Amino acid sequence: MYIIGGTASKTVAEDLSRELHVPLAKTISKRFPDDELYVRILDDISGEDVIIVQTTYPDSNIVELFLLQDAVREAGANKAVVVIPYLGYGRQDKKFEAGEPISAKAIATLISLRANKIITVDPHKEHILDFFTVPAFSCSAIPQIAAYLKNKDIDLVLAPDKGALDRAKKASKIMGCDFDCMEKTRIDGTTVEIKPKNLDVKDKKVAIIDDIISTGGTMAQSIKELKKQGARQVFVACTHGLFAGEAVKKISSAGCNEIISTDTIKSDFSKVGIAPCIAELLRKK
Ligand code: R5P
Repeated sequence: MYIIGGTASKTVAEDLSRELHVPLAKTISKRFPDDELYVRILDDISGEDVIIVQTTYPDSNIVELFLLQDAVREAGANKAVVVIPYLGYGRQDKKFEAGEPISAKAIATLISLRANKIITVDPHKEHILDFFTVPAFSCSAIPQIAAYLKNKDIDLVLAPDKGALDRAKKASKIMGCDFDCMEKTRIDGTTVEIKPKNLDVKDKKVAIIDDIISTGGTMAQSIKELKKQGARQVFVACTHGLFAGEAVKKISSAGCNEIISTDTIKSDFSKVGIAPCIAELLRKK
């Protein structure tokens, strides 16, 4: 058995290799002068079961995954499990307007062509897993995020909207504190409105937990509202830290005390390692 780490997920692949006691295959990945990608697997994986680890964000990493999957097939591997720490395009999980694709389904269909099984972490919605045409499973980073936040003496965990309430509830149980949610309305891709909802946050330490931080609009607006209501400290945590554009600046200038993310997408805020949760799922499935 071998683990192959794509360039987007080297750290997770190395951690998984340690957790599962499975060697990492040596690979080469480089760009041609016209920027097309070249990959090569150097170890002999013929007849082996292989775990490919690659986040599919940004788009160039999807191409790398396709090439790795093909290289694994061409090398005569027995089975390919594809681990996708962050599965991109999850937010276009249906047609919102006529003429749109179901992007999550389009990507899942293509990945399934060269995979025997898919493992991912906190997909934006669980039903996205049904878009794969091979068995697909997910694990949640919430226990790891909650374990990190437990040391911060948080009084209240908040979800930015009702849809994310279950995550806040799960985290609050581990952290031994209260949970609630805010009321978010998305105006467009970069603008959200957080309605004032009376929460008991005066002089409290609050943590907001979401699956994704993208533009940072959701978190920045939520922090401002909580500060208005007298929160003493606000922590923000997510599984997938995309931190697009000025996200970090927006969140920091709203008065955030700490930004926490996992390493499904590597950033300065990747304080929580996701490999143990993936390893546990791989052992079970
Ligand atoms: C949306 O449904 C997601 O759960 C996140 O709340 C959203 O993607 C965050 O986006 P942004 O950081 O751009 O507000």
